[in-house]
Amino acid sequence: MASSDLFDRVAEAAAVVRARIPAFPEVAVVLGSGLGGFAERLTGGVTIPYAEIPHWPPVSVAGHDGRLVVGAAGGTRVALLAGRTHLYEGAQPEEVTFGVRVLATAGVKTLILTNAAGGINASYPQGALMVIDDHLNLTGANPLVGPHDERFGARFPDMTEAWSRRLRRLATAAGRDIGLLLTRGVYAAVLGPSYETPAEIRALRTLGADAVGMSTVPELLVARQMGLEVLGLSCITNAAAGVRAQPLSHDEVVASAGRTADRFARLLERILARLGDETEPAAAEP
Ligand code: HPA
Repeated sequence: MASSDLFDRVAEAAAVVRARIPAFPEVAVVLGSGLGGFAERLTGGVTIPYAEIPHWPPVSVAGHDGRLVVGAAGGTRVALLAGRTHLYEGAQPEEVTFGVRVLATAGVKTLILTNAAGGINASYPQGALMVIDDHLNLTGANPLVGPHDERFGARFPDMTEAWSRRLRRLATAAGRDIGLLLTRGVYAAVLGPSYETPAEIRALRTLGADAVGMSTVPELLVARQMGLEVLGLSCITNAAAGVRAQPLSHDEVVASAGRTADRFARLLERILARLGDETEPAAAEP
């Protein structure tokens, strides 16, 4: 059975990871386009290239590399995935979400998914950081399709609060701590790899989307099935097609994410610090 094969492959990968990092962190971050540099900010970082983890699918796009890094940021131990696979590469939804399943199996409870996204909401400036309140899955794919393996979780996982309300509040408060006003909104996930047409962006706006991107939702779906609490952060790297006059380019998206990387890193560190505080017993909100 393909489904039990997947469970076994995930378990094998998680066992290899845990053997190299015995006290595996409970918090993990998936780094989006242009944000891989955050891994260099970890203290005491241990790196495991994906290639050294059995069954881990290879990654291949400019602005991404492929490694798992574990270390501390904001005083909290965290596992980072630097480099992810996308549906637009032709990867199967199961491959795109393999890493998140491994993290959950290795002991992660809280997952932070980050990405670069186009701004549909005209009030978002380039470089804005958006907390994902909710999403539209318009990729045409769902990693939970196929034979059900109940060891991963429910057949029909609830998505009423796909994105944790507690973590959304925590992220907003973390932004406030460091003087960053975060926007919040609905992330529309599309297949790509072509950027959208202006008509598609108008349609997405009508549907209620504030930002658009080509990642993140597959990972969210498996994470929720496996019971993780998930936070999503989008870096608005560009105005979506037709919102402003200029054409879109991947180079500009990566460069724009790079310009925001420092702010994004400070936000992530502050979020991780708050997460660390909350796991201390009797930590009270000031
Ligand atoms: N559209 C889709 N994906 C993206 C965009 C965009 O405008 N910017 C960054 N990722």
